[in-house]
Amino acid sequence: MKTVVITGGTDGIGRALAQTYLERGDQVAVVGTSQAKGDAFLAAAGDLGAQGRAWFLPADLGLIDENTRLIDRLAAQFESLDVLVLAARYHRSARVETPDGFEANFALFYLSRYLLSHGLVSPLSRSGSAVILNFGAAGLAGPPRWEDLQLARQYHGVAAMGHAGSLNDLLAVDFVDRYPDPNIRYVINHPGVVSTSFAGEYDHAPQTAAEVEQLRLTGKTIDTAVRHILPFLDPAGQARLSAVCEGAAVPLHPETSSLTDARRLHDITRQLLDSRQHSVGDRGLP
Ligand SMILES: NC(=O)c1ccc[n+]([C@@H]2O[C@H](COP(=O)([O-])OP(=O)(O)OC[C@H]3O[C@@H](n4cnc5c(N)ncnc54)[C@H](OP(=O)(O)O)[C@@H]3O)[C@@H](O)[C@H]2O)c1
Repeated sequence: MKTVVITGGTDGIGRALAQTYLERGDQVAVVGTSQAKGDAFLAAAGDLGAQGRAWFLPADLGLIDENTRLIDRLAAQFESLDVLVLAARYHRSARVETPDGFEANFALFYLSRYLLSHGLVSPLSRSGSAVILNFGAAGLAGPPRWEDLQLARQYHGVAAMGHAGSLNDLLAVDFVDRYPDPNIRYVINHPGVVSTSFAGEYDHAPQTAAEVEQLRLTGKTIDTAVRHILPFLDPAGQARLSAVCEGAAVPLHPETSSLTDARRLHDITRQLLDSRQHSVGDRGLP
């Protein structure tokens, strides 16, 4: 039985992955902010909750302290982790900063994934065959805006998610270089457009509503997105770092995903966390 943790596991692709692992007999903890969605997940899991195979762990992963609290909780609850899926996201048409002072999308879509990837290395390494699935850009979003990583000068909601995706590509490149453990693989996935809830805060322009509706109508099904990614998660013996776009392995281009840039982003991220005096404490962060 595998131990599986899925941020954003209460909805969309994350929820469908959670269901897949439950049906396989694994134990699954999903993370989200909505108690109602968490309750719905547990209701659908039926007896598995009482049997200790399905959990809902509420956390607002846009906040640093909530990430460190989650890391502590997971490390205390599970001796080892086999699958970590990083899928929480929330669209915002307008730029917003979190109480920690980070641009909200940067905080949820990138910083949280940085903290959870690094903070859970110990239980992941005890698996013997672990995989981290992070929904990134898979090279599609171009290089980061190094001088404006939190998009203070020019912000667009959809572009902000793409930008954070490119940061996650670099997170993965740095991660596999930093930890020599061959038993933790990292998979970056861009699923293409998938017909999920597209939850978020949107402006009220008719064009925006039309664009979202168009995405819902033309996106692939959630089942298709899950079918596309499962083959890259299951077998051991694959490359330590894989990038996948709509079910096909793709190269991460050196232009957007060089190790030099990956280390640079890592160092900037640590400085940012340190400068805001966030106590990430002794959680294995490099
Ligand atoms: N759908 C697409 O077309 C598409 C395209 C490209 C990439 N992707 C990527 O695929 C991944 C999954 O996307 P999706 O469309 O399946 O997502 P989704 O259906 O919109 O679900 C988002 C999940 O994130 C959780 N979440 C939102 N804010 C959170 C917060 N502050 N803290 C913790 N959890 C939070 C939500 O739970 P609560 O509501 O309970 O907070 C929900 O479970 C994402 O990384 C996304 O960027 C999707």
